[in-house]
Amino acid sequence: MPLIEAHDLTKRFRLPVKSPGLAGAVKHLLRPRHEEKLAVDGIDLTIEAGESVAYVGPNGAGKSTTVKMLTGIVVPSSGKVRVGGLVPHKRRIENARNIGVVFGQRTQLWWDLPVQESLRLLGDIYEVPEDRFGRNLREVTELLELEPLLRTPARQLSLGQRMRCDLAASLLHGPSVLYLDEPTIGLDVAVKERIRQFIKRVNAEREVTVLLTSHDLADIEGLCSRLVMIDKGRIAFDGPLQEIRERFGRERVIHLILHEAHPGGVAIATDALRDLATVAIDQPEPHRLSVQFDSAHATAGAIAGRLMGVLPVNDLRLDEPSIERIIRQLYEGELRFAEEGAAP
Ligand SMILES: Nc1ncnc2c1ncn2[C@@H]1O[C@H](COP(=O)(O)OP(=O)(O)O)[C@@H](O)[C@H]1O
Ligand SMILES: [Mg+2]
Repeated sequence: MPLIEAHDLTKRFRLPVKSPGLAGAVKHLLRPRHEEKLAVDGIDLTIEAGESVAYVGPNGAGKSTTVKMLTGIVVPSSGKVRVGGLVPHKRRIENARNIGVVFGQRTQLWWDLPVQESLRLLGDIYEVPEDRFGRNLREVTELLELEPLLRTPARQLSLGQRMRCDLAASLLHGPSVLYLDEPTIGLDVAVKERIRQFIKRVNAEREVTVLLTSHDLADIEGLCSRLVMIDKGRIAFDGPLQEIRERFGRERVIHLILHEAHPGGVAIATDALRDLATVAIDQPEPHRLSVQFDSAHATAGAIAGRLMGVLPVNDLRLDEPSIERIIRQLYEGELRFAEEGAAP
């Protein structure tokens, strides 16, 4: 049985609609109006124990709402969801014992308490047996080098130190799933790398299943081989990281160098390629041109052939989009999704 299973999972939020001002407020009191916001729109998601999955998409796509339904703090409007055989919102406490959650921008530590007191309290809340608590604490303390931090109140920790302590806190009860929401946000490169190494190890050695939300491509590539993309509440892609280049990376650019600056080169190339491509001068050098095209509509060979027939081409180079660029476009909401005609 898969560890996480969601079928047609949907969340609609109901929001009050108020007109501005006092008149609007009074009107709303007399006749409240609501509109519905479809945050998660019928997703199917299956994650096996031990997997490490990146869950990415633009702001407002529905990532956090999905995670909240998996943790049980948000009740789905319809559809099915199970984590470790439990329906999370119906068995919140039992589900909580099975999961760890880390939010990059929030802490689960008590601000004024020394870290070890917070960890102790969390152990009590989760009712972790004394011997297991001791073992887990020793292990995370060693792996994350927390010893010098244990007597410090959370408010005195740097962001990176705080994140290490939060990771420790999320693992003390020995959960089988770890939800990480932007765990490296705001950290410097060295600390990020260290956090990644730790998460990787927890996934590989303890077989903790990881569901990660991150804008950081190094996090995604370093930790996950499977990528799930969500956009407007729907899953737009679910598969190996490497496959997204084939699915979404349709845009190609050919850079060409002419023997010499060619007046009207852009016009000639544009004319030769008609509707196939967009041509521009690679500033600041007038003898370099860039030709942008959609690989679903033309091949690089065909474009190059036409160009060499009309211009004195000295050299050319094809740029394929990087996964980084695709993910950046995805986050910026610029990616064209399947129903809008991505290459098959
Ligand atoms: N508690 C809520 N009440 C009303 N709308 C919400 C609530 N939580 C999230 N939303 C809306 O649902 C959509 C998805 O939000 P969220 O899951 O937080 O996206 P993400 O984490 O991908 O940025 C957004 O349009 C957001 O405004
Ligand atoms: Mg979010």
